[in-house]
Amino acid sequence: MQNISFYHTAFIDYLEAKIEVKEPASLYDPIHYILDLGGKRLRPLLTLMTADAFNGDYKEALNAALSVEIFHNFSLIHDDIMDDAPLRRGKATVHEKWDINTGILSGDAMLIMAYQLFEYYEANTFQELAKLFSKTALQVCEGQQYDMDFENRDDVFVADYLKMIEFKTAVLVGAAMKMGAIVAGASNKDQDHIYEFGRLLGIAFQLQDDYLDAFGDPKTFGKQVGGDIIENKKTFLFLKALEFSNDDDQLQLQHLFGINPSDATDKIETAKQIFQSSGSADATRKEIENYTKQAFSVLDELSIPEDKKEMLKQFGHDLMNRRV
Ligand code: IPE
Ligand code: IPE
Ligand code: MG
Ligand code: MG
Ligand code: MG
Repeated sequence: MQNISFYHTAFIDYLEAKIEVKEPASLYDPIHYILDLGGKRLRPLLTLMTADAFNGDYKEALNAALSVEIFHNFSLIHDDIMDDAPLRRGKATVHEKWDINTGILSGDAMLIMAYQLFEYYEANTFQELAKLFSKTALQVCEGQQYDMDFENRDDVFVADYLKMIEFKTAVLVGAAMKMGAIVAGASNKDQDHIYEFGRLLGIAFQLQDDYLDAFGDPKTFGKQVGGDIIENKKTFLFLKALEFSNDDDQLQLQHLFGINPSDATDKIETAKQIFQSSGSADATRKEIENYTKQAFSVLDELSIPEDKKEMLKQFGHDLMNRRV
């Protein structure tokens, strides 16, 4: 097994070779733009590492890895429209740089490109990958719709939130890993366990994303800090702050998360202050650690060598401590 930067380089080289420049430019330029903006490449790295962990050839997993990354970037273009987000990876979002219609269609084309990449696999593998992909992509849509619905609801519970992030984010992390396992010909049992590892890591990952959305460093975070507060997102931070707060703070939070002021500076500051003082920020960090540890415990079930488990663990640790 290679180190993480090896897979990163292999993936970027493949992506650059594979994504052609085509016409019309107004359809394809935004696709190149978002794919070239970088990002952590977390999901494709997991696909390649998993293929390798199960004794497969990571090169055979490159198309599946690219598929997952293109799907992820498609979902970001549409997500940024839905969240009215100005910034992505430190640059203007696609709908800001072009317009909403461009974001819709370039995104649609990416979803199709993601599917098309499975054509490189022989019939059985194709079917397994496509089946997993379709199921996962539909769940992502369901999760995204819950996320949007929750903006306008004041009866969201932690269990609802956890289901929502499982669907919008975690299942894709699980699927990215399972795809690597499928390509490597791993047993069904191993496929299921690695999916579960990815799913749990994915929940920790979204909790961390929500934490950074409030408490990330604007200089390095790459997205608009406070964006979730502006959009009245019912995150773990918000729900736990409500639970832990006294009556005054509860009322204030409920009020703040029902308004859309044109200048949100005070709303963001007050919400963050209550997230901290209520103990919700600490509880979120704890929950991130809990889910990461739960993910690690699934590794015990896998029939792969210890050094490979260690590498997956290291990856999980790095994710938990990330700043972007
Ligand atoms: C952002 O994903 C969307 C979420 C599911 C939280 P990433 O944080 O993986 O975004 P990039 O690809 O690294 O920019
Ligand atoms: C995004 O969740 C999930 C999907 C794109 C499906 P967020 O809305 O929290 O992602 P960011 O913070 O914009 O990257
Ligand atoms: Mg968003
Ligand atoms: Mg969103
Ligand atoms: Mg977010």
